[in-house]
Amino acid sequence: VLESLKGVSRGTLCIAVASTVNYFAPRLMAIFQQRHPGIGLRLDVTNRESLVQMLDSNSVDLVLMGVPPRNVEVEAEAFMDNPLVVIAPPDHPLAGEHGIPLARLAEETFVMREEGSGTRQAMERFFSERGQEIRHGMQMTRNEAVKQAVRSGLGLSVVSLHTIELELETRRLVTLDVEGFPDRRQWYLVYRRGKRLSPAAGAFREFVLSEAARIALPTRVIQAV
Ligand code: PGA
Repeated sequence: VLESLKGVSRGTLCIAVASTVNYFAPRLMAIFQQRHPGIGLRLDVTNRESLVQMLDSNSVDLVLMGVPPRNVEVEAEAFMDNPLVVIAPPDHPLAGEHGIPLARLAEETFVMREEGSGTRQAMERFFSERGQEIRHGMQMTRNEAVKQAVRSGLGLSVVSLHTIELELETRRLVTLDVEGFPDRRQWYLVYRRGKRLSPAAGAFREFVLSEAARIALPTRVIQAV
């Protein structure tokens, strides 16, 4: 009886998240764990393509990701803003300029995430929908590597604002004020359609939908959206 009053106190919960969600997922898990100390939590961090495979093979309880898949039947509920921004090193000639025309980016090189990255997909879609060609530079499989590459002057990139909170604070990177940016996107809580959520998964779903935005949105993100 006590157990039912105190909420879910047992079970293991497997959560898989996009690499951009990794920047706040542990914060959510810490709070959730305090409230449900009996639940064992597992976190898998990977890119969009692997997340879609996990949903397809039903090998995970819940997924937090950018764009939900179309080729797998899922339930998808938006829970937080995910603005994408153009990043540059602080000494870049465009840093501090206002209203940079999109066409100006044709002169720049872009550090790219790997095929299979949701960020890359969103970035390519953004430019192609506007008929804007961009020059691809080096390709990297981690947000961290992309940020270091941009800092080192290898090019610009487009990333989720959540991935650069610390770099903005310490001025190691800046965002560029480019026409059309921030690209306003959202994160979704996703699971296979028809899946019977365990009590632990149900509790986490409720928690994310009702509280994640308040807990995880950094001030700069709130200002940008
Ligand atoms: P990814 O994450 O770029 O690591 O795939 C972003 C997303 O799925 O939105």
